[in-house]
Amino acid sequence: MKTRAAVVEGQGQPFTITEVELDEPREDEVLVRMVATGICHTDITMGHFLPPEMFPHVFGHEGAGVVEAVGSQVRGLEPGDHVVMSFRSCRDCAKCRAGLVGYCDQTLLLNYMGMRMDGSTSLHRDGSPVFGSFFGQSSLAAHALAYADNCVKVDPELDLTLVAPYGCGFQTGAGTVLNVLKPGRDDSLVVFGVGAVGLAAIAAAAAEGVESIVAVDPLAGRREVAEKFGATTVDPTDLGDRSVVDRVKELTGGGAAYAIDTTAISEVVRQAQQSLAVRGTLIALGLGAEDYAVDAIDLLQGGKTVMASVEGDSDPQEMVPRLLEMRAAGTFPMDDLVSTYPADQINQAVADVTSGAVVKPVLVW
Ligand SMILES: NC(=O)c1ccc[n+]([C@@H]2O[C@H](COP(=O)([O-])OP(=O)(O)OC[C@H]3O[C@@H](n4cnc5c(N)ncnc54)[C@H](O)[C@@H]3O)[C@@H](O)[C@H]2O)c1
Ligand SMILES: [Zn+2]
Ligand SMILES: [Zn+2]
Repeated sequence: MKTRAAVVEGQGQPFTITEVELDEPREDEVLVRMVATGICHTDITMGHFLPPEMFPHVFGHEGAGVVEAVGSQVRGLEPGDHVVMSFRSCRDCAKCRAGLVGYCDQTLLLNYMGMRMDGSTSLHRDGSPVFGSFFGQSSLAAHALAYADNCVKVDPELDLTLVAPYGCGFQTGAGTVLNVLKPGRDDSLVVFGVGAVGLAAIAAAAAEGVESIVAVDPLAGRREVAEKFGATTVDPTDLGDRSVVDRVKELTGGGAAYAIDTTAISEVVRQAQQSLAVRGTLIALGLGAEDYAVDAIDLLQGGKTVMASVEGDSDPQEMVPRLLEMRAAGTFPMDDLVSTYPADQINQAVADVTSGAVVKPVLVW
C-alpha cells in the first residue's frame, strides 16, 4: 500500500515527508494505522550515527495507533485494537524468558538492521528499498508494520497522542527507577539531564516516595517541570566557583545513593559518578557518546557501580500498562510534557526538542 513516511535521505539530513510503498503484512506482521508518534532523542541520533549505506531510512519507535490488519499467525491482536508500540524481542531466548527482553539475543537483528530478519525491507520507493523495521515499527509514518511482541494493546478510550511516548522515553526513565534502582524513601537520587527520559525517572521516583531528588539541567523550562515533580534543581551553568559535584553533594547530604545520566556527555557522566555517595550506583542511559571518562580513584575508593540499562530493563507488555495505571491514579503526571505537531512539521518538532522549547514532541498523522 502507499503511505506517507518521514524519510531521512542521508546521514545527518533532516526528515522529509514523502510517499512510500509499504508491504502488505506477512503472516507474523500487524498493520497499524498511526494516530500519533513520539519523537525520542534516539530517532535524531540514529540519523547521524548510521553508516551512509543505511539510507534512506525511516525511524520512529514511539508509535501509537489502530490495528488495521493482522497476519494469519498473529495471536492476541485484531483489527480495531488500539496499540502502543515498543521495541522488539524474540520472547524465546534465555534473557527473554527471564523477563529481560531488552537484552534479547536477537536485539540487534530485530530492532536496528533496517530490514526484516530475512533481509527484505518492508518499505520501497520508486522500486528501490527504503530501510525501516526500526524497533520493529518505523512509525514515523502514517502506517507501519509491527509484531505481536512489540504491540501493547491499550484501552481504546485513551488519547493516543498522550500515550505514544510510553513505548520508549517514558518507559525508559520510569523503568530505570522502578526496575533497576528500586530506591527506598530515604535514598537520594540525582538525575543529570531532565528531558523526557530524565523527567519520567523523577516522576517515578516521586511516586515511590523518594524524598531527596535532585535534577541537573541547563534548561530553565525543564528544571521548572522537575521542580513541579518534587525535585530540587541545579543549573550547572550558574554555580560560580562551585562545581556541580559539590552542589549535588551538598543537597544530598554527602552524595547521592543513586544517579542517572541521560545526557550522553562524557564529562557529565563523570560528574554523575563523582556525585555519588560511597557504594552509590550510576545508570548511564544516554546514546551518542563514543566513550565515557571514569574517575577511577573515586570509583575504587567509593566502591561505586557504573552501569547502563536498555529501556530501564522494562518488558513493555508489563511496564506500559503499569505506567498507564499510575497515570490514571495521578502518580505519573506526564501529559503536560507532550506537545503535538502535525506530521509535516516534524523538523520544527525536532528543532523545538533540541532547543528545549518542548519536552516530548508527538506527531499527529
Ligand atoms: N537506554 C535506553 O534504552 C534509552 C531509551 C530512550 C532514550 N535513550 C537516550 O536517552 C537520552 C535522553 O533522551 P531524551 O529524549 O530525554 O533527550 P533530551 O535531549 O530531551 O534530554 C537530554 C537533557 O540533557 C540536558 N543536558 C545537556 N547538557 C547538560 C549538562 N551539562 N548537564 C545536565 N544536563 C544537560 C539537556 O538540556 C536535555 O534536557 C538520549 O541520549 C536518548 O538517545 C536511551
Ligand atoms: Zn527511544
Ligand atoms: Zn529473546
